[in-house]
Amino acid sequence: MQLPSTRHLRYVVTTVDESMWMYMKRLFAVLLLMGIVAIAQLPTSNAFAQTAPGVGHGFVIDKHLGAQLTCANCHTESTAKPPEMVTCLSCHGGTYDALAKTTENDDPNPHASHRGELPCAECHHIHQASVLLCSQCHDFELKVP
Ligand code: HEC
Ligand code: HEC
Ligand code: HEC
Ligand code: HEC
Repeated sequence: MQLPSTRHLRYVVTTVDESMWMYMKRLFAVLLLMGIVAIAQLPTSNAFAQTAPGVGHGFVIDKHLGAQLTCANCHTESTAKPPEMVTCLSCHGGTYDALAKTTENDDPNPHASHRGELPCAECHHIHQASVLLCSQCHDFELKVP
């Protein structure tokens, strides 16, 4: 009787070996890709950090880019248009009243005054140093982030 079974077995073993090698190569390629993607997402390498006006001076834009936001998170249509207040509120409280609640222990509360619902950028300029609009007329000890 012939012994085709041995040859056949050998064939099977080599095939398994080769497909295992192919598998390892693919696994390595996938891991390498995951590594590159992970490095690209490190906070220090937000691609928008290079292009934002006023970046790198400790203004509020730095905190936003540090939190991986993009220009479009605030400038929903175009960077030529200043963001709408609702866009800011969508991340900060939801409504002006809810935002005011987070600073209700301040005296006076910068988010609830006789000046009503002031546009955020009157104080938080984002790309420039923040200012306290109230200081035009008052002398309050409030620090604007
Ligand atoms: C956290 C929200 C926010 C993000 C993120 C943001 N901006 Fe702005 N941007 C503003 C606000 C608010 C103004 C209006 C400033 C004012 O009225 O003082 C503005 C104004 C501007 C202006 C007008 C000129 C100026 O300096 O005021 C340009 C240009 C601009 N943004 C570009 C960008 C680009 C480019 C990016 C992304 C790299 C970006 N912005 C990301 C909030 C943002
Ligand atoms: C997509 C969500 C998002 C939008 C839109 C957004 N912010 Fe923010 N904002 C954040 C995050 C995240 C931080 C960082 C939080 C932290 O570091 O504590 C932040 C930080 C801030 C801070 C600093 C808070 C602190 O305690 O130092 C201010 C002020 C602020 N944002 C105002 C604004 C204003 C004004 C706008 C609109 C022009 C705006 N944000 C739009 C998410 C957003
Ligand atoms: C009159 C100036 C003024 C205006 C207008 C203003 N803020 Fe503020 N904001 C402040 C001051 C002052 C603080 C610091 C309060 C504190 O540290 O307790 C503050 C704090 C914040 C914080 C941090 C809150 C926290 O819990 O630490 C956020 C977020 C914020 N403002 C978002 C906004 C948004 C969004 C708007 C518009 C809807 C806005 N602010 C309008 C003056 C202002
Ligand atoms: C254009 C000038 C002007 C601006 C800007 C202004 N106020 Fe006033 N504020 C006044 C006047 C005028 C009065 C009433 C006279 C008084 O009592 O001093 C007053 C009264 C007050 C009072 C009650 C009296 C007191 O001094 O304790 C508070 C609280 C107050 N303002 C908070 C604010 C806050 C918070 C802001 C910023 C969001 C602000 N004001 C912005 C002019 C202004």
